[in-house]
Amino acid sequence: MTSFPVSDSAARMQSSSTFKAMQAAANLREQGFDVIDLTVGEPDFPTPQFIKDLAVEGLNKGFTKYTPSAGLKTFVESVADFYNEQFGATVLPTEVAASCGGKQALFNAVCTLVNPGDDVLIPKPYWVTFPEIVNFCGANNVFIETEETDFILTADQVRDAITEKTKLLIVNSPSNPSGRVIPTDEMRKIIELCAEREIYVLTDECYLFFVYPPAEVFSSAALPEELRKYVCIAGSFSKTYAMTGWRIGYTIAPESWTKAMTKLQSHSASHPTAFVQYACAKALQQPERSLAEVQTMLSEYKKRRDWLIPKINEINGLKCAMPEGAFYAFVDVRGLFGDRYSTSEQVSDHLLNEKHVVATDGAAFGSEGFLRFSYATSLENLETAVERMSSLFGIDRALAT
Ligand SMILES: Cc1ncc(COP(=O)(O)O)c(C=O)c1O
Repeated sequence: MTSFPVSDSAARMQSSSTFKAMQAAANLREQGFDVIDLTVGEPDFPTPQFIKDLAVEGLNKGFTKYTPSAGLKTFVESVADFYNEQFGATVLPTEVAASCGGKQALFNAVCTLVNPGDDVLIPKPYWVTFPEIVNFCGANNVFIETEETDFILTADQVRDAITEKTKLLIVNSPSNPSGRVIPTDEMRKIIELCAEREIYVLTDECYLFFVYPPAEVFSSAALPEELRKYVCIAGSFSKTYAMTGWRIGYTIAPESWTKAMTKLQSHSASHPTAFVQYACAKALQQPERSLAEVQTMLSEYKKRRDWLIPKINEINGLKCAMPEGAFYAFVDVRGLFGDRYSTSEQVSDHLLNEKHVVATDGAAFGSEGFLRFSYATSLENLETAVERMSSLFGIDRALAT
């Protein structure tokens, strides 16, 4: 039998290596092992009850039919109002389009801007999907190494990476996988530089509110018009409101870019589920209630972060900077390299096979030598994981408390 003649665009994409790690965890669990899975990139909290109730209300009100491709009027208006209220922005409803999660928002944004042969700047470490969308479009990924600045992208690094063919920069703060947050001033400088050079910026704000003070929540929606002309925000309800399975996100971009994305989406998913749009619109109309739910989750993540990072740093050969946002610890494991290991994949495989602790290899995010641990799991699971890692790699007695 001849193999399926997959298209060139699809063949240029790699499957997601974060899903591979999740699969490895599931396989071990099926064999009866007590697996601690730290690969999961989704909140371990349920969706807030009032949002579930709003979805039922939407169903009962008949939001069960097609909506405009850009989303229900109430959805796009609520997103615009929410950003305008929270960030003092001047977003128009015509600059908002609903999408099936942040992922589709990103896909729509890149596919409507980038041509084959264009260069797209992507800081390392990056979220796995960014380069794959660029590959799909036949454009070139130009990666920016940020280890020197502890994984916080700077305007100087962007300036050095710009080429004649640069069309777009994709930036994600707070970052998956590093958890680092680009300070507001630096983010402004980065976007000013891009606007000056007529380079567009896609800012993935999927973890927008998951920021631990003193780091600041920053949305590019707050930028002045002359900068926003070049910016598309990819937003999502998935992490912020623990709604990963609901598949809803949005873009905020100049009207002409929004129109192009809406046209593309009208020929693919059409729009996200009608009653889900209704529920999200109504939830955003009650920002105090919605953000109180976010705060409850955030304080739990903070407790875990504050416990986990010092404990990781006590383990022989592991090193992790304090993440200011999201729910990931991006751990440098190169201190373990020597006779036994020479790659982070070998470290994660050994940890998986010996101790049944599953982490994601940093190579998946373009940073070999690191492992990503998600702390969107109970403190109890984190304690077990740390115990198991300590018994495998040993404890640095000088640091242990
Ligand atoms: C940085 C980043 N952007 C976007 C997404 C996509 O999220 P969703 O499509 O569920 O909104 C994720 C999910 O893990 C992510 O980590």
